[in-house]
Order: sequence, then C-alpha cells, then structure tokens
Amino acid sequence: MLVDVLRCPGCERGSLRADRAGYICSQCSAGFPVIGGAAWLFRDPRGAAGEWRARLTLMLAELQADAAGTRAALAAPDLLPATRARLERLAAALEDHGQRVARLLEPLQVHLGAADRDTLRALRTRMPVSQGLTNYYVNIHRDWAWGEAENAASLDLLDTAGTEPLAGARVLVLGAGAGRLAYDLHRRHAPALTVAMDLNPLLLAVAREMFAGRRLELYEFPLAPRGAADHAVLRSLAAPAPADERLQLVAGDAMCAPFQPGAFDVVVTPWFVDIVEEPFPALATRINALVADGGRWLNLGSVAFAFMATQRALQFSLDEVLGIVEGAGFTRPVLREAVVPYMQSPASRHARLESTVAWTARKVASVAPPASRGPPEWIVDARLPVPVTADLQAHARATRIHAFLMSLVDGRRSLADIAQVLVEQRLMKPEDALPATRAFMLRMQEDAGRRINV
Ligand SMILES: C[S@@+](CC[C@H](N)C(=O)[O-])C[C@H]1O[C@@H](n2cnc3c(N)ncnc32)[C@H](O)[C@@H]1O
Repeated sequence: MLVDVLRCPGCERGSLRADRAGYICSQCSAGFPVIGGAAWLFRDPRGAAGEWRARLTLMLAELQADAAGTRAALAAPDLLPATRARLERLAAALEDHGQRVARLLEPLQVHLGAADRDTLRALRTRMPVSQGLTNYYVNIHRDWAWGEAENAASLDLLDTAGTEPLAGARVLVLGAGAGRLAYDLHRRHAPALTVAMDLNPLLLAVAREMFAGRRLELYEFPLAPRGAADHAVLRSLAAPAPADERLQLVAGDAMCAPFQPGAFDVVVTPWFVDIVEEPFPALATRINALVADGGRWLNLGSVAFAFMATQRALQFSLDEVLGIVEGAGFTRPVLREAVVPYMQSPASRHARLESTVAWTARKVASVAPPASRGPPEWIVDARLPVPVTADLQAHARATRIHAFLMSLVDGRRSLADIAQVLVEQRLMKPEDALPATRAFMLRMQEDAGRRINV
C-alpha cells in the first residue's frame, strides 16, 4: 500500500494516513492533497501548486503570443503557398495545444488572464530553474507514441544490470517523467508496489492518463521537422493496457522525498542523477536513505553532469561515480553498457544514439543524507518577514540599476547618451560605460525575444 511507504515531507517525522481529501501527517497534522491523480507530497503543497500554476499560466500566455506572432507573419506579402500553409497549420496547432494542455492540467486550477504575460515573466517561479513544465515534453511522445524500440532497449539494458526478480518488492522510480519505464518495469516484474515520482505535473498528468488506460492526443513539435506537416504533429498516446493499482503516482521533490527511511527494496533512477541540481555525492546518500538494508539502487542513463558546467569538480566521470556510490554505503556498482537509440522521432531529422550505462549496487551500510533541501521558512509561511540577506541586497541593487537603465530607453537616446547618464550618476567610469551599456542592451534585446523555459 502506498501509505505504508510515505512520510510527511513537512516535519519529516510523521507517517501519513489517507483521508477523504488526501493525506494527513500523524505528527504535525499537515495536510497534503491529491492533485490530478497524484499524491501531492511537496513540503509546501500549496506553494508548489501555486508555482506550477504560475508556470502553466505563463506557458499558455507564451503559446498564445507564439500563435499570434505566427498569424501575424501570414500578413507578409509574397509568401510562398507552402509557407502560408505551414504557418496556418502551426498557428492552429499552437492554439489547440494550449487548450489541450490547459484541460490536462485542469486540476491545477489555472486562471487564464490572472496576470499579464509581462508580470508573469518577471515573477516567474523558481521550482528548480532547470526543471520547466516543457523541459522533457519530447519524452511524452517517446514514451507513449513512437518510442517502442527505445523503451524496450532501456528496459532490457536495466534488466541485464539488475537481474534479480522484483516480485514482491517495493520499487521507487525517481524522476519517472511521463512514466513509461516505471510502467514497463511494473508490467514485466510485478512488484508489490511501484511508486513513480516526479515533480513535473504535466508529465505526471500524462502518466495518470496512460496508467488509467485512457487515450490522449497531444502535439509533438519536433526539433528538426522532416517536412511541412512535421512542424506540429498531433500524436495519439496510449499504453498497451491499463496498469494495476499497485503502480502509483507521487508528485514531490526528490530533494525532500516524502518516504520513510529504507522504505524501498529497489530505487531506480532513470536519466536522473546527472540532471538534478544537487551534487552527486549528496544525492547518492539521499538514495541510500530510501533503500532498505540489503536493497538495491538501479541506475540508467549516460552519466554526464552537463548541468554542473560552472563547477568542474562536480562533473564526475563514470569511474569517479562508481567510487562515490561505494562511499555512499553501496557495493561497487555492477555495470552494463550499451548504445541505445534516444529520442528518434520519426517526424524529426534530429536523433541521438546514447552510450548508456546501467548499474546495480546493493546497500551495505546506512549513510546519513544531507538535510532536506526545501524552500526557506519565509517562503513557506507568507506571514514571516523576508530576511535582508547580503545576496538579496546585492540582487536588489542590480535590479534597480537594470530598471534605471531600461527607463532611459525612450526612443530618442542613443547607447552613448545612456552611457553618459551612467557616468553622470557616478555609476560607472567613462571608459567602461559604453561597452557595458552596449552589452546590457544586447542582452535585454535578446531576452525580450527569447522563448523562455516555463
Ligand atoms: C531526464 S528526465 C528523465 C525522465 C524519465 N526518467 C525518462 O527516462 O524519460 C528527468 C526527470 O526528473 C524529474 N526531476 C527533476 N528534478 C527532480 C526532483 N528534484 N524531484 C523529482 N523529480 C525531478 C524531471 O521532471 C524529469 O521528469
């Protein structure tokens, strides 16, 4: 049963019991809802729902703006008939896509027009910045439309690394995304419980529909469309069969995982350990805390810590990773490697082959995990004063200067005029002011036209 493995992500002590509307903590009485079919087990459930709702509102506003821009492009004289047809088709798809996504995420109760697009852009939220609603959107289509060969190759590779049976086991799939690997593992091995956890409500909503055996239509927007019809492809998504009730969805943050220590016989991390913002050594101890004594950690992915580009020491290579896993209370991982197809959409000219690593490592010692990384108290409790930290003060100064510079853009001043104001205000030396102003305005110009990560 799902409740048997749950722990309150708020106080991190109490067990959770199910009640009519969701889950209640036995210690601190905090309540956690079920949203869109997934137990919504973020430390600050209301805040997390608010953040995702704001991102969704922004995503829908961006789609509307994109559709309007595409329609506006139709006004150009001398468009080729084929270009006109492509733009018309794309604009209609963008509008329809917005409605489909809004319906799918209806449980988040998004209010269209609740704030204008500029305000939403300015205030856009900071769930992990790298983890937007649409980041792994392409995985949805790979999982449930055209990725049969890729999905099978991933499952087979994982199986060759972790050959022990899973029957009767409690399995957690961390960063389960749209859920295909969790679903396939569950169907092939029939564990007692499989929990598919992710923090992205769009992917979870797709998983919900698939696990329930329902069919869903969503657009794919391929990276490198093959032909005119491939710029927006309406795909029909479906699982081969409904999943049983022992496959469960949890919405939550792995950095504050809502589970009892040692609750799982097997923790699976598919394409996950190298995309989170936490350094791998700390993440490995978190995973240790979730695995039962003698249980296993199964990993799949290319183990490439590209996100850590500004911290070279954290861009571990595979041999370093193996040592870190051992240091985090596991046996040395048993490795299997294979080249697997990756995101080979039939509608795209872009496709990857990924030299993929699967490992299994058994837990032999308990290692204390780092403190859970949730938002600070003043973010959770809106009545607390916002502290004046040195970082915030510095950032406030920078944003005031940005705002001041932008206020100088009036359609008459040149870059040299703006730089001159900076010098007069003693904000910069004359020799620095013009290059800095030029670089800043170029960035503003690029930011203004950029599609943002929602
Ligand atoms: C590269 S994708 C892999 C998804 C899926 N395992 C697959 O193979 O298609 C990484 C997944 O981790 C999820 N994720 C990222 N940070 C997370 C966190 N802190 N807690 C839970 N899930 C997270 C993302 O939403 C995304 O679905």
